[in-house]
Amino acid sequence: MAVKLAPSILAADFLNLGADVELVNKHADIFHLDVMDGILVPNLSFGFPVVDAIAKKARRPMDVHLMIVKPWNYFERFAKSGAAMISFHLEAAKRDGKDASELLDSLKKLGVQAGLAINPDIPVEELYPHLEHADFILIMSVFAGFGGQKFMPESLERIAKLRAELDRQSLGNVRIEVDGGVGTANAPALVKAGAEILVAGSSVFGAEDPVRACETIKCN
Ligand code: DX5
Ligand code: ZN
Repeated sequence: MAVKLAPSILAADFLNLGADVELVNKHADIFHLDVMDGILVPNLSFGFPVVDAIAKKARRPMDVHLMIVKPWNYFERFAKSGAAMISFHLEAAKRDGKDASELLDSLKKLGVQAGLAINPDIPVEELYPHLEHADFILIMSVFAGFGGQKFMPESLERIAKLRAELDRQSLGNVRIEVDGGVGTANAPALVKAGAEILVAGSSVFGAEDPVRACETIKCN
């Protein structure tokens, strides 16, 4: 399957959001939208007004990455906003004693692709019981909460391990998304390890030439 580039709107210019939305429409594949609550992660970002505004202009699928506690309270609302993909953190499910497999199933019932995310300190093995319920897995390659952090190289091994387990469970259709510090330098190695969706914030919107950055990351 072809590798998809998902620029993270967190790094966009919010005073010129329309221009950055057009950049994704023309030169990338997916809108990655980071929703943070200041509780699950130590930062706040944006919510419905921004997602709904982007939805009006988006000609690419929207991927909502929920870094919030009790994400299930908002699944329906984000699906209504037009999200094609929604992910939540395994940490958020565990915190409230919820079964991540059931939550993934409930996302699928809403007609969206269901994703399960983990931070770098969660062993990938904790994902294994839930893999068959997921459409994609989001491996954080920095601790969730902020853009512009340094890529953690051990993520490569985690992705390769997860890819091997997906193959072992005959779940080749479950995609791996990687998020945090992704750019031209590490994209080839990430794809080789088994990542199929590359989230990139600062390496796209912070680049001198964002169009070129998109092309270079995708072509890698
Ligand atoms: C971090 C977010 C990321 C972030 C990526 O918690 O989930 O999507 O925006 O930004 P960069 O690519 O700058 O690390
Ligand atoms: Zn993200």
